[in-house]
Amino acid sequence: MLNHQTPALSEGSPVSATLESLRIKQLEEQSAALRNSVICAFNQLLDLKDLNTGVHSTRLAEWGMRVGQELGLEESELQNLEVAALLHDIGKVGIPDAILRKPGRLDPDEYALMKKHSEYGWAVLRMLPGFERAALDILHHHESFDGKGYPAGLKDTEIPVVSRIVCVIDAFDAMVSSRPYRKGLPYEEAVRRLNEASGTQFDPVVVRTFLSFAQAEMSTVFAAAGTSVSSAL
Ligand SMILES: [Fe+2]
Repeated sequence: MLNHQTPALSEGSPVSATLESLRIKQLEEQSAALRNSVICAFNQLLDLKDLNTGVHSTRLAEWGMRVGQELGLEESELQNLEVAALLHDIGKVGIPDAILRKPGRLDPDEYALMKKHSEYGWAVLRMLPGFERAALDILHHHESFDGKGYPAGLKDTEIPVVSRIVCVIDAFDAMVSSRPYRKGLPYEEAVRRLNEASGTQFDPVVVRTFLSFAQAEMSTVFAAAGTSVSSAL
């Protein structure tokens, strides 16, 4: 009589190793899909609160990845960088609209509340498995290289590298972008301000790395704003 029983796979056999690697690949794909869904969901939340200019966050992610790659960050750090660049201001959903949309200068109390957004962002994202590291990077995206930033007053390399990158590109993007109540700065003026604060507010290595390719990227920024680099200069 024929025996139809499947023979047990011995541990360490080539077949069991193949099955194991297939399983790992499947789990990695599932976790990447989950990660993307979470990013999309939070982006929609930012949209609802009118905090997300889609172009702004996509641009930040592209610039951030470029700086990260030039600085030789590992793949896992690049993944965190992408999340942090896209969702760094997610905590602003917890800030009252009257403060977020105030066209004038914030008074000290309002500014103190506004500064809470990095902690709020951390508090939300750290709850999600796989986002713990990006949550910390978001927590520190307003630290200053000289230790005068917030919330922890970290300085120099105490600040996570991802946070140092997001800090520079976010500040630069904010400078060159136009808002309903003000026009964006010309490219050269934004570069001057970035260089001026390099070593105090910003990590000089990140500034140098970003500026090494920034000018070539500017045509995209100004095209999105409906103008051109030359006319904006
Ligand atoms: Fe922020």
